[in-house]
Amino acid sequence: MDEKILRRYNSQEGADSYQGKFERHWRERTNNRTEQRLLQKLFTRLSPGNIETALDIPCGYGRLFPILHTVAPHVVESDYSEFMLQSARRYHEASGSVAAQYVQNDALDLHFEDRSFDLVLSVRLCHHIRDHEERLQYLREITRVSRCWVIFTYADHASLKNRLREIRRRVYPKRSKWTLKAKEVKETADAAGFEVVESIPLSRLFSLHRYSILRRRESLS
Ligand SMILES: C[S@@+](CC[C@H](N)C(=O)[O-])C[C@H]1O[C@@H](n2cnc3c(N)ncnc32)[C@H](O)[C@@H]1O
Repeated sequence: MDEKILRRYNSQEGADSYQGKFERHWRERTNNRTEQRLLQKLFTRLSPGNIETALDIPCGYGRLFPILHTVAPHVVESDYSEFMLQSARRYHEASGSVAAQYVQNDALDLHFEDRSFDLVLSVRLCHHIRDHEERLQYLREITRVSRCWVIFTYADHASLKNRLREIRRRVYPKRSKWTLKAKEVKETADAAGFEVVESIPLSRLFSLHRYSILRRRESLS
């Protein structure tokens, strides 16, 4: 991940600020509701009753734990930032339902065995990873620890928002977004033994983010 962004998340101030993000502004509240709806939709793809264990990485302050817990009885919340993990635990304790574990981890080098979880959920991390090869490494790592399913988000190279930004960049110098192409996701998933079941943009017009659900091929047999 970009060093500066990571330092911010890995601080008390950064964790507090992220916790308020989805409540402060109507746009973020709408995004949060849209994401929850989108996840509900993707969850209908899962084989009902077959999910026992799930990993939420990075969990941030744990906003997606309640919805993830509706499909997986045993959820591990994990993040690089110890401050985020503390926020997540406090947030869940306040709502009366806590995760099975809160574990510090680097999503590019997870200390879990292969296929440890039925489902891995990874939201809003990929677009913060500066190096292209590391974005692919991250995808390989979250598929490695999944036995059946992965749901993850990435900034889509082909999104309208990214294409407009690239056009604007010819006049106003700004860095490119840290994107992936659908083809790269498909090829990396394929090499890990997964297929892309569905891939949905958060918003066709206004967002870079795409939610993709992957399924391990041999989990079908
Ligand atoms: C934008 S937040 C997303 C959190 C959560 N998934 C959500 O959607 O609310 C990004 C999170 O990634 C975490 N993070 C950054 N680099 C990481 C890494 N290499 N491994 C695990 N977590 C990381 C940060 O600490 C932060 O909590």
